[in-house]
Amino acid sequence: MATNSTGLQPSQGAGEENNQLPSARTAPNLDAVQALASTMLRCVECLTLYPAIEAGQAMLPIPRYRCDCGGVLDVEILLKHPDSHERQVHDASFFDSDTNVLPATGASWRQLFDERISSSPIWAISTDKHLLDASGVWRYRELILPVPEQYVITRPEGNTALYPVGMENCSVGRVGHRQIGIYAGLDRFFLKHEGENPTGSFKDRGMTVGVTMAHVMGAKAVACASTGNTSASLASYAAQAGMRGIVFLPAGNVAGGKLAQTLAYGATTVQIEGDFDDAMRLVEQVCNELGIYLLNSLNPFRVEGQKAIGFEILQQLDWQAPDWLVLPAGNLGNTSAIGKAFRQAYQLGLISHMPRIASIQAEGANPFHRSFMGKFAKRFSVQAETIASAIKIGNPVSYTRARRVIEESDGIVTSVSDTQILAAKTVIDRSGIGCEPASAATLAGIRQLVEGGVIKHDERVVGILTGTILKDSKTGMPQGVSGIVVKPTIDAVKNVLSQ
Ligand code: F0G
Repeated sequence: MATNSTGLQPSQGAGEENNQLPSARTAPNLDAVQALASTMLRCVECLTLYPAIEAGQAMLPIPRYRCDCGGVLDVEILLKHPDSHERQVHDASFFDSDTNVLPATGASWRQLFDERISSSPIWAISTDKHLLDASGVWRYRELILPVPEQYVITRPEGNTALYPVGMENCSVGRVGHRQIGIYAGLDRFFLKHEGENPTGSFKDRGMTVGVTMAHVMGAKAVACASTGNTSASLASYAAQAGMRGIVFLPAGNVAGGKLAQTLAYGATTVQIEGDFDDAMRLVEQVCNELGIYLLNSLNPFRVEGQKAIGFEILQQLDWQAPDWLVLPAGNLGNTSAIGKAFRQAYQLGLISHMPRIASIQAEGANPFHRSFMGKFAKRFSVQAETIASAIKIGNPVSYTRARRVIEESDGIVTSVSDTQILAAKTVIDRSGIGCEPASAATLAGIRQLVEGGVIKHDERVVGILTGTILKDSKTGMPQGVSGIVVKPTIDAVKNVLSQ
C-alpha cells in the first residue's frame, strides 16, 4: 500500500491502492480555504463547474487539474472592488456572454491599481498588504485570487520594463533600441521584458500564485514538467516556501543555465529520455498518483498569475490598450492568460477595446498554427523540433483556452523558422536589450506580419520577450566566440582596436 509525505490526497482518478492518507501532512489553511469558497473551476470543454478546493477523506484537499471529461479548467472568481459591496461582477467564463458587466467601475479600478503602484514599500515597516502592492502580480490581487495576504508566497515578481523601441516612440538618443523598431517596421512599438522577473522568465508570475495555492492546500511537494524556465521558477518558489520541488526535464533539450539554476535551488531533477510532451504526460500521472501538487500551466491558478503580464502592460500604457499583443507560443498557457486578462480588463471598463493577439510558434513546433490555418476544425500534435528549446512542444496543454483567446480577440497564429528566430535574436541582443531564443520569435513574427500587411506600420504593438539572455548562452552564438585574448601590452590592445 502506497503512502506519501506530500501533504495532499491523491486525485480521485488515481488507483485504489493509492487512496491512502498521507503518513505526514500539513493541514490545509482553513481560513484561506474559506476565502476561496466562491472561487470555481469551469471545464473549458463541457462547462461543468467545480469548487476551487474539494475536500477528500479527513478533510484533506484533493487537487483537480481536469474535468471528469478530461477537459482543462478555467478559474472563475468574484471580481470584487475592495471599496464596494455593490461593485461585484462574477467573472464570466469564456463561454458566457451574459455577464453582469458594470463598465462604470473602470475608473475606480484604475485608481485602486494606480495608488498601489505609486506607494513603494518601506521594507522595514511595511505590512503584508504593502509588500503585496510591490508585486507586479499581487498588486492586481482582486483580479488574480482572493486569498488572505499572509498566505501569499511572493519574491516579489513582475514590475518588468516596457521598452519603447518603435521608429517614432524611441527617442533618438537610444539608437540601439530603435534598430528593433526599424527591423520590425513599426512606428509605435514596445517590448515588455519578462526576462527581468526574479528567476529570469515570465513563469514567476504564474508560480507565485501556484505555490500560494499549494501552501493554502497544505502541500509539501510540488512538481512540473518543463523545457527549463518553469522548472527554475518552481525550484525557487518551492525553496522559498519550504516545499520539496520535483521537476521532469526532457534530457538533452534544456539550456545549460536553466538546468544549473534548477539544481542550485535544490529541486529534485529527473531527466526523462523523451521530449517535453512525454515529460508532461508523466508528471500528470505521477502527481495524481502520489498526491504531489502539479504546477504546470495545466494548473489553472498558474494561468491566473500570468494574467498580470496583461494588467501591468495596460497600466504602463496608462490603460490605453495597444492594437496588438504579440508573444511566443509553446504550451499556450501565456496566450490563454494574457487573452483572459484583456477580456477581464475590458469587462471591468479598465480599457475601451480588446487588443488583437498574435501567437508565434517555431515552424518545427507549430501544432497551434496548423489548427489555426484550418480554422480550428482539427487539433494537431507534432514531433517538435526547433533550436528555441523553450517552445519545443508538440502537443500544447492549453490548446482550447488559447483557441478561445485567438477567436475572441480576432487574433492570428503564425510560425517562423529557426533562421528567422536567430536573426531577430541578434537584433534584440545587439540593441543592448537581449533575450533567449524563444523570446525572439516575437520579433521574427512581428516582422513577418508587418511585411505581410497584417499588422500596419502605424498600429500600436506590444511584443513580449519571455526570457532572459543569460540562461541560454550558446544557441545562435557563432562557434568560437569568446572574445579576443592578447598579451598584456598596450601595443597588443591597440592592434586589436584598430581592426
Ligand atoms: N518563452 C519562454 C522563454 C518559455 O520558457 C516558454 C515556455 C514560452 C515562451 C512559451 O510559453 O508555454 O505559455 O506558450 N516554457 C515552458 C517551460 C514550457 O517549461 O518553461 P507557453
